[in-house]
Amino acid sequence: MWTMDTHTFYESEAQLRSNIKNSGLGERIRAQTVSSVDAATVDAGLEIRMLYIDGLHTYEGVKADIENWLPRVVPGGVVVFDDYYDERPAIGVRRAVDEMLAGREIHSQDHLIWLRV
Ligand SMILES: C[S@@+](CC[C@H](N)C(=O)[O-])C[C@H]1O[C@@H](n2cnc3c(N)ncnc32)[C@H](O)[C@@H]1O
Repeated sequence: MWTMDTHTFYESEAQLRSNIKNSGLGERIRAQTVSSVDAATVDAGLEIRMLYIDGLHTYEGVKADIENWLPRVVPGGVVVFDDYYDERPAIGVRRAVDEMLAGREIHSQDHLIWLRV
C-alpha cells in the first residue's frame, strides 16, 4: 500500500509513522511526504486496484487528484472519496466528483462514496 501526505494539516508525519508501526503492517505500507500530484509522476507502471482520495479537499485539489490518479486505476478497480457530503464552502469534493465522474454509479456510506472505474 502507498500513502502520501504533505502533513500540512491534521496529522504529523511522526504520528502517521507511529500509527503504521502500531498497525503491524509497516512492511506493506510505503509512506511518502509529498503532494499527491508530485507523487503521481513516479512508478508510472504501478497498477492501482483501490484508490482512496482524502487529501486536499478543495474543488481544485480533488479535481487534480482525479486527473492524476484515476487513469492509473485498473479496470474494475475502486476509487473512494472521503467527505463527499461535507457541505462547508471550502470543501469541493462533491462538485469535483459530480463534474468529472458524471453518469457513473456511485455507492455511499456515511461520509464516503465509492465507484468502480
Ligand atoms: C482530512 S486529512 C486526512 C488524513 C488521513 N487520510 C487520515 O484519515 O488520517 C487530509 C490530509 O491531506 C493532506 N494534504 C493536503 N494537501 C495535500 C496534497 N496536495 N497532497 C497530499 N496530501 C495533502 C493534509 O496534510 C491532511 O493530512
